[in-house]
Amino acid sequence: MKRPLPFAPALAERRLVLKSAAAAVTALLGPATGTSRAATGTALGFTAVPASLQDAVRVPPGYEFQVLYRWGDPTGIATQLPPFKPDASNTAEEQAVQAGMHHDGMHFFPLGNDGRRALLVLNHEYTDEHQLHSDGAKPSTRDKVLKSLHAVGVSVIEIERHSAGWQQVLPSRYARRIHGRTPMAISGPAAGHALMQTEADPSGRLVLGTLANCAMGVTPWGTYLTCEENFHGYFGADKTAVAPTDAAARRYATLPGGQWVDWYRFDERFDLSKNPHEPNRFGWVVEIDPMDPTSTPVKRTALGRKCTESATCTLTTDGRVAVYMGDDARFEFIYKFVSRDRVRPGGYAANRDLLDHGTLYAARFDADGRGRWLPLSPDNPVLKTENNLAGPAELLVRARLAGSAVGATPMDRPEWVAIHPRTGEVFVSLTNNAQRGTPGRPDVDAANPRAANLGGHIIRWTESGHDAAATTFQWDQFVLAGDPAVPGAATRYPSSTADPFGAPDGLHFDSAGLLWIQTDMSGQAIGKGAYANLGNNALLCADPSTGAIKRFLTGPNGCEITGCVVTPDRSTLFVNIQHPGETSDAGGGSANSAWPDGTGPGSARPRSATVAVRRRDGGPVGT
Ligand code: FEO
Ligand code: CA
Ligand code: CA
Repeated sequence: MKRPLPFAPALAERRLVLKSAAAAVTALLGPATGTSRAATGTALGFTAVPASLQDAVRVPPGYEFQVLYRWGDPTGIATQLPPFKPDASNTAEEQAVQAGMHHDGMHFFPLGNDGRRALLVLNHEYTDEHQLHSDGAKPSTRDKVLKSLHAVGVSVIEIERHSAGWQQVLPSRYARRIHGRTPMAISGPAAGHALMQTEADPSGRLVLGTLANCAMGVTPWGTYLTCEENFHGYFGADKTAVAPTDAAARRYATLPGGQWVDWYRFDERFDLSKNPHEPNRFGWVVEIDPMDPTSTPVKRTALGRKCTESATCTLTTDGRVAVYMGDDARFEFIYKFVSRDRVRPGGYAANRDLLDHGTLYAARFDADGRGRWLPLSPDNPVLKTENNLAGPAELLVRARLAGSAVGATPMDRPEWVAIHPRTGEVFVSLTNNAQRGTPGRPDVDAANPRAANLGGHIIRWTESGHDAAATTFQWDQFVLAGDPAVPGAATRYPSSTADPFGAPDGLHFDSAGLLWIQTDMSGQAIGKGAYANLGNNALLCADPSTGAIKRFLTGPNGCEITGCVVTPDRSTLFVNIQHPGETSDAGGGSANSAWPDGTGPGSARPRSATVAVRRRDGGPVGT
């Protein structure tokens, strides 16, 4: 494989543009190295945490953590501060102003310049129906569906740092819960198109709610992007119902009988036989202004519809925005959107329609270490001959079909994308794909080189000319993950001493260029088979400049680790512990976890939560 070239801007003019682009990012994220204290310490100087099957969070010696915002904790909205009821008897109305379930992507938005106040914005990806309701998942009722709709979406909370650590500000004028019934706008090329129209919304421009909010992004103008991932599981119908079963419905798995929950029985908009276009209004990137709790979230259709995971932003050489996205399903694609217009100074007000105009691409990875961004545009001659992709709206609503038509590379479940703050290298996690190379499924290729890939891998690339607007790139594998001790695992780590891990999912670069890798081995597979020696899901810290990788944090039983974000001064690492106690993809676990409230299995309902990790001496995390 070709290695990325060193960063070497060629033109003085380009340096000027880059400088202003960097200034925009600095204004948003804070200085790259923060305080002088943040510059101290040796990368990965901490003692690695051993793999663990304990129902606990473990951090390295010299570090401490606090649990900050658990499912059911009040979000902090005015006088609406209902406490969590441990028997899960909070009503649907109370759930709408409390932390949702299954915390995922998250970002830290500083308030002021002293690093002591901030907003945390975080996703609530899905629910464990068994835990959410005091009498469990069954029988389904209208009230339970309402509570579930209120337990997904996004939280905006305000936090403040005291000598004892971070505390939630209650109430806060910023506090907000966006959930599965929050009114939001649809914008961009697909807005208003017939495919987006429903009986309840003939305009095709207004939709209730966001669902399946997994990874995220943050724009150069300071808004939060939440990604709608596994939305299809909420739409259903009886198996015998008449509903679309065309190529798009099959590719997006919105088919009668395919639902994961039976919401369609209580809310018609989830019924594919009555509202066949409603699922077209999900699977998008949603833009949220965290600073204005009255603002209307906007679904940005120019970024394409898919099981969107990540919307990682950077600036092109000429000051436009590029957004990298994964589509987390087996054999789906990696995408990039490049805006038509440049980012303007003036925050969100000056960039309100920036994500509505631009070009969407899907990635092709070639065996020689080169790659190409293939435009999904009506001008692409390949797409002109595709009947159901005839116009810009159709192309975006059916982006997966367009990606196949242009020859994008089917990947092993693309999850998070992270960009090295100094080199501009783009890293993406491919979490796993047990079906790769099995009969009837795509075979291995250079970018997805292992059959029955349980370990997952991390690919990285450098855009040609170090410009995020480029249409070609050079790529290589950073890690072929898994347990090297398992026969046939064919792992490859960038150093011989790297701590092994499985199923990489969340990726986050801190301001110093350390890569924080979060794992999501499936709850039913943890501690077994290919994952037998890897313990519970974990957070690892990697230094791409040396190839060193060390296990930094281990999670409680049944959880996924996700949503990691390090403060710009590197004094605190926030991370989400998602679905402790989950023993199967359908949820229903709890026997193996009572984290964080309990004293042992069965003593308390497990709760997803945000955790803040700091070094006891205040130094930069990961050093
Ligand atoms: Fe929600 Fe693909 O992880
Ligand atoms: Ca994920
Ligand atoms: Ca995942």
